Amino acid sequence: MATTSEYGLGEFAFARGWFMIGEAQEATKIPAPIRYFGKDLVLYRGESGQPYVVDAYCPHMGAHLARNTTSYIVRDGEHVQGESIRCPFHGWAFGPDGQCKHIPYSDFIPKAAKLRTYPVVEKAGILWMWHDPEGLEPDVELPDFGGHYGESGWVEWKIDYMGDLDVHGIEIVDNMADFGHFIPIHGAKDWQYFANEFKGHVVHQYYSAGHRTLTAADEDQLVLDTWYEGPGFLQSEMAGAYDSFIMIANTPIEDGKTRSWHALMVKVHDGSRATTEEDRAIAFEYQEGSRLAFAQDVEIWANKRACLNPLAIPNDGPYGKVRSWYKQFYNSRDKAAEIQKRVNGLVVTLDKRPGNKAA
Ligand code: FES
Ligand SMILES: [Fe+2]
Repeated sequence: MATTSEYGLGEFAFARGWFMIGEAQEATKIPAPIRYFGKDLVLYRGESGQPYVVDAYCPHMGAHLARNTTSYIVRDGEHVQGESIRCPFHGWAFGPDGQCKHIPYSDFIPKAAKLRTYPVVEKAGILWMWHDPEGLEPDVELPDFGGHYGESGWVEWKIDYMGDLDVHGIEIVDNMADFGHFIPIHGAKDWQYFANEFKGHVVHQYYSAGHRTLTAADEDQLVLDTWYEGPGFLQSEMAGAYDSFIMIANTPIEDGKTRSWHALMVKVHDGSRATTEEDRAIAFEYQEGSRLAFAQDVEIWANKRACLNPLAIPNDGPYGKVRSWYKQFYNSRDKAAEIQKRVNGLVVTLDKRPGNKAA
C-alpha cells in the first residue's frame, strides 16, 4: 500500500493527534509490547491505575522492556513498581517521565538514561495515545464521546476490532466526502441532504437519507452528524430506530498500514429506570448492525489498490478538500493553521429538503 509521501501529505510520515491504541483492559501490570507509528512501544499500567506508553528499547543496552519471561525481575514481580517500569536485563527502573530513577548496582545515574514517553488517556473504555511528530504536548483535548459513555439510559459500547488493513488512513477518511458509496455500500435511499463542513481540526459530514435496515419504519430518514476531530477517529450522532453514537478509530501500525476498530453506544431508554439485560441485548444487536455496515467499507479497503488521485466527478463529494484538510496533521503546527484557513467552510453536495429552492 502507498505511503504518506506517495500521497504527498506533508513532511511527517505519521500524523499528529489522538489515536486509539487498544482497549482499557489491555494495559496491565504486565508490560505488553505494542507497535504503532512504525515504532516498537511498551504499554503498562502503574500501581495507581494510570496507563503508560514508552519506547520499547532500553537506553542502557537496548533490551526490549516487555519481551521477556525469564528474567528474575519478571519472575519476582518487579517489572512494574509503583509507576516505574524496570528493565529485565540489568534492572534499571524508569519513572513515568521516562527518567531512570534507580540502578540496582550504581548510585551514579546518567542524565541520558531516559526513555521516550507518550501521553496516554483512558476514556470510554479505550486507551488513547497522543502522537506528535514534533514531540509536543497535545494542542487539542480528547473529546468525551457525546458524554454518552456511562450516561444513564445508554448502553456502553463494546469494541469491535475490524482488522489490520493494508491501507493508508487517508483512504478511510475519504469516506467523509464519499457521497456516491452510500447507496451501494450502506443501503441508503431517498436522499435529502449531504454536506461537509470544515472547521479547523474538525470536519463534519451532515447526512439525511432513508436506510434499508437502520430505521424503524421504511419511510423514515436516518439523520447523522459525523465528524473527525483530528486524523485518528470518527464520531457520529445517529438518529435512527434508536439514538446511537458511533466511534471508528484508525491508527497507523506502519506507514500505509492501519488498524481499525468500531464501537457503538445505544440509547435504550430515557434514563428514568434501570437498564436490563434485555436492553443490553437490543443495544448489542443494533451495534452489530452498525458493525456490519462499517464492515462493508472495510471489505473495500482491504482489497483495493491505493488511490493517489481520485478520478473525481462533480457529483462526488469534496474528496480534494477532505484530503487537503487531512494534510494539516502531517505538517508543522504553523503550516496546519494555513491549511485550515484555506479549507474552512461548508460544502453542500446535495440538498433536496422541502423548502430548499434547489430541490
Ligand atoms: S539493557 Fe536495560 S538495564 Fe541494561
Ligand atoms: Fe462508509
